[in-house]
Amino acid sequence: MKIVTIIGARPQFIKAAAVSRVLRASDGMDEILVHTGQHYDANMSDVFFDELEIPRPDYHLGIGSASHGAQTGRMLEGIEQVVLERQPDWVLVYGDTNSTLAGALAAVKLHIPVAHVEAGLRSFNRRMPEEINRVLTDQVSDLLFTPTEVASAHLRREGIPEARIHLVGDVMYDASLFYREKARQQTHILARLGLTPQSYVLATVHRAENTDDPHRLREIFTGLQRVAEHMPVVLPLHPRTRHIIEGQGLTEQYLSRLTLIDPVGYLEMVALEESAFAITTDSGGVQKEAFFYRVPCVTLRDETEWVETVEAGANQLVGADADRLAHAIERLIDHPPALPDPGPYYGEGHASTHIVHTLTP
Ligand code: UD1
Ligand code: UDP
Repeated sequence: MKIVTIIGARPQFIKAAAVSRVLRASDGMDEILVHTGQHYDANMSDVFFDELEIPRPDYHLGIGSASHGAQTGRMLEGIEQVVLERQPDWVLVYGDTNSTLAGALAAVKLHIPVAHVEAGLRSFNRRMPEEINRVLTDQVSDLLFTPTEVASAHLRREGIPEARIHLVGDVMYDASLFYREKARQQTHILARLGLTPQSYVLATVHRAENTDDPHRLREIFTGLQRVAEHMPVVLPLHPRTRHIIEGQGLTEQYLSRLTLIDPVGYLEMVALEESAFAITTDSGGVQKEAFFYRVPCVTLRDETEWVETVEAGANQLVGADADRLAHAIERLIDHPPALPDPGPYYGEGHASTHIVHTLTP
């Protein structure tokens, strides 16, 4: 069985690391790895291949950054060539980036079946590029691997036949269980940054709806500066956000009180997450990881796809609002919550095994 896997952006390297490990250990499975090049800085790409032991891509398309249309179009062309050349049994795509949509669209037009990992997530906000990528990818996929029952229900409501929907659990939960101990043993980032466990807030900001709207960006960074009056705020800054803040001459105003660092590898990120007092983020993956490590999360968005984290009382949505962000962290300082075990919500850590079994003829 020949599988072409399409990856290109940071969270996809982490998800694919979990599935590829199982896939490559299974008899008769031949994985051909395609990196679109959507993310390309060493700390946004190479670091994950090295530390998560992801095999070197068989094809690196080197697409890089561009507008949505240009980037997706170039990916389509490159992926189509690979699929024509290799004639796989399946094309496997992850998540909701432009690399996901390009992979799914290239395959389906060539009548190659598509398997989508992390299918069925919805924010119901069609202004998010990720929402468009998910809805379209799910519509053309033959196998839809969902992380939660809520995601499966979204697909049913959209008319996806039941036989295509497979509730497998969350592959990022698999990854968190697999790498947690390694992160504890092999990283020294807390010592390097002079941090004490449970006495700092970890922050990430990269979502287009926040970075590309000057008002939202100002609210978020004003809020983070206020949080930094209570405890250190560690911010591994996504290049998208760094370019925008630097480009607008806002570095001093927005970042001066924060413990600013470059993006870190997955193991260092896990170490930072696990020991944080709280996490504030607009990332999908980081919201979930906060939940996995039982660290309270304050989400810088108006809605979330990971509704279980909110229902469990582990995550609160504050939008882009300096007062709500600062008050949420202050409330956590005054009343630290007892958080639930993530286990039942996102599977038992065998999502990757279920996926590979389902793909196996
Ligand atoms: C992309 C995904 C988003 C995902 C995120 C994960 C889409 C539409 N968005 O957003 O869903 O949450 O990845 O991190 O697919 N840049 C660099 N170096 C890099 C990569 C990016 O400098 O290695 C900068 C460039 O200025 C680029 C900008 O970041 O224009 C945005 O990159 P892009 O891949 O287009 O989108 P992300 O914001 O990273
Ligand atoms: N991550 C990382 N280093 C960082 C920031 C994030 O390894 O500096 C990891 C994080 O632990 C999670 C994933 O990247 O596993 C989330 O990716 P991101 O926030 O870029 O995208 P999203 O999940 O929002 O699509």
